[in-house]
Amino acid sequence: MTTITFRDHAYDCNSDESVLACLTRHGLTLPSSCQSGVCQTCMMRATAGSVPEKAQQGLKPTQKSQGYFLACVCIPTGDMTVEQADALNQFTSTVCEKSMLNEEIIRIRIDKPEGFDYHPGQFINIVRDNGALVRSYSLASVADEPLELHIKAIPGGAMSGWVKNHLSVGDPITFQGPTGDCFYLDGKPEQTITMVGVSTGLAPLYGVVRDALAQGHRGPITVYHASLATAGLYYIEEMRALAAAHDNVRYVPCVLHGPAPEGGEVGAVDAIVGATGDFTNHRVFLCGDPPIVNKLRQKVYLGGAHMLEILSDPFDPAPSAGNEQ
Ligand SMILES: Cc1cc2nc3c(=O)[nH]c(=O)nc-3n(C[C@H](O)[C@H](O)[C@H](O)COP(=O)(O)OP(=O)(O)OC[C@H]3O[C@@H](n4cnc5c(N)ncnc54)[C@H](O)[C@@H]3O)c2cc1C
Ligand code: FES
Repeated sequence: MTTITFRDHAYDCNSDESVLACLTRHGLTLPSSCQSGVCQTCMMRATAGSVPEKAQQGLKPTQKSQGYFLACVCIPTGDMTVEQADALNQFTSTVCEKSMLNEEIIRIRIDKPEGFDYHPGQFINIVRDNGALVRSYSLASVADEPLELHIKAIPGGAMSGWVKNHLSVGDPITFQGPTGDCFYLDGKPEQTITMVGVSTGLAPLYGVVRDALAQGHRGPITVYHASLATAGLYYIEEMRALAAAHDNVRYVPCVLHGPAPEGGEVGAVDAIVGATGDFTNHRVFLCGDPPIVNKLRQKVYLGGAHMLEILSDPFDPAPSAGNEQ
């Protein structure tokens, strides 16, 4: 048992409990979303006590040196005094476009706020109710385009339901970020790139592939977009146009249940991609449904891809946050 001191109160923390779980168990409400060390919504700062290395994975060296850590994956090894991180990199901007990409996927575009710099493919955390509700969404936009998000409407979803039913063009929207390492790095312009997006997992890839081309990538790029059926796919024409305009880009729409979309495949996407065999020296991007992303990560690793060349964003859902508002 360790002690967590927060806002001048001491709280008992069980031996296998994270700082976030401990403070939540004691009745405090703190911002959190993925609860798996990905989204950085739960960032806190230690003013005393040591921070386990795992709780700082993915943070910038400057943040690490100042004691910032992710409370959801911080199992204390000794007593700690902690405080809430300032709203790091928080922006409020305006929704400038909203439309449906298919029956369940909403596209919103947001005016790019001054001072917001990002790599296409990174994600932002949309914040509502002063941090009581936070969810991550990947950036499909590039350069100075308005920020573009593809959001799947989840039945009863707190954030996606609000976006679908209540958010309108002209409304303010608050977000934090950018976060994540799922983006293109130049330096290997001839490398083979394999991208797999499941459902809205296409969003970051649509940003990454256009960014790679803009940076002069010449190696082959294959983008697999997977859904249960053709109705769940979107941006089919945009992706075909991209492939038609660039000899090195191949677009493969994949559906679990037929009929096959034109130029596409039917079957489980992990089997389709896995069957292509050798991933030695490939850079691989995997985004969307967590079980499929995790299966594919293992397959491409066993197929020869280097761990550091596999960039993935499993869209882990937050533990249930209550009803749509
Ligand atoms: C790094 C990262 C990037 C992400 N990028 C995107 C993105 O670009 N586009 C996007 O649409 N989402 C993305 N997500 C997922 C997103 O953050 C939310 O989890 C999702 O929108 C659901 O939030 P909600 O508040 O609407 O639903 P919640 O209120 O959190 O959930 C309502 C209920 O639905 C269940 N549920 C949640 N997600 C799903 C699902 N996918 N399928 C079935 N049931 C579900 C929950 O377990 C819960 O029971 C990303 C997640 C992460 C971690
Ligand atoms: S990183 Fe802790 S809630 Fe997402």
